[in-house]
Amino acid sequence: MAPGRLNVIGEHVDYNGGFVLPAAIEREIVLVARPRLDRVVRLCSGLSDEAVSFSLDDLSPAGPRGWEVYVKGVLAGLEAHGFRLCGFDAEIVSNLPVGGGLSSSAALEAVAGLITLAMTEDTCDRMQLAKICQQAEHRYAGVPCGIMDQAAVLTCQADHLLLLDCQTGQARHIPFQDSRWGLMIIHSGVSHALAEGEYAKRRKACEEAAALLKVSSLRDIPIADLDDALKHPGLNDEKRRCVRHVVSEIDRTLRAVECLACEDYRTLGKLLCESHASLRDDYRVSCPELDFIVKTASGLDGVAGCRMTGGGFGGAAVALVRSDAAEAVRDHLRSAFAAQFGAEPWMLMTRPAVGARAWRRC
Ligand code: GLA
Repeated sequence: MAPGRLNVIGEHVDYNGGFVLPAAIEREIVLVARPRLDRVVRLCSGLSDEAVSFSLDDLSPAGPRGWEVYVKGVLAGLEAHGFRLCGFDAEIVSNLPVGGGLSSSAALEAVAGLITLAMTEDTCDRMQLAKICQQAEHRYAGVPCGIMDQAAVLTCQADHLLLLDCQTGQARHIPFQDSRWGLMIIHSGVSHALAEGEYAKRRKACEEAAALLKVSSLRDIPIADLDDALKHPGLNDEKRRCVRHVVSEIDRTLRAVECLACEDYRTLGKLLCESHASLRDDYRVSCPELDFIVKTASGLDGVAGCRMTGGGFGGAAVALVRSDAAEAVRDHLRSAFAAQFGAEPWMLMTRPAVGARAWRRC
């Protein structure tokens, strides 16, 4: 099984070498597989009416791009890294919303990778597997994503957030064990399509801005130098906004970790709200539904703060909510959102969950 992930803070900074702070959530994809004697892979899932099959001897990314490309891409990556895989029949079930900004694709990649390795009794370092999954997303799904989702899905620990330095790959597991507070996911119902170009455009603008500022990534600009960096005459309005978002978001993420260490949930909540404003106004990856959720939730008793989570353009928001207020918050959001948009949002109060696991039955 592999869980989805939510990112508490540190958005659109992973591909800029920044710090992210995601958690695995209590919703997952489960894949049950039986090895075959040949090199055929046959997948059944609720995502399509018919089973999908392909051969391990033909894993090229060409052809139609259905959900199975995530599996194909990971298997191709593993074979390219020298793992000799066996064919299998698999059944996939999921309670994770698809296209919801909760990394259902990273979960599918991770579970496919772990289960195939388990069948041949091979092992692979979790961060190495995360990179293979990320490559699958780049080459097979056409999304130039960072490493956050795959790393979170594969390495998160229960009751901890993952502080990942995306430049060095170093990880620290930050305790989030105070049962008085929880993380509420509120899904906007708007399905995002990261492959449609906006994500890639932001990434390109950041890379061009870094080149102009003569740093290898925007991570290398300290917050104290931000104002000077923004004065660079070569930056147009779009690039200036990207630099301001990325540099300030990395700083907010590190401050969020300090807040967690001293249980300062009020300031942590404020940082979440600031992060959302930066994503909405500077990075421009929010949407009216997410802005409505964040504005409504932030004004409610028991909510320390709220922001969009994940790539944006739809998907979900995350709120830091006092456990004893969760029911009232949920009820209020449900009716306010329905009154505005005519549909109820999918919601989940979650604790940080454990990362992907595979079990082998002989
Ligand atoms: C998507 C990508 C991640 C990350 C987030 C934004 O989820 O897959 O790599 O860039 O968007 O933080």
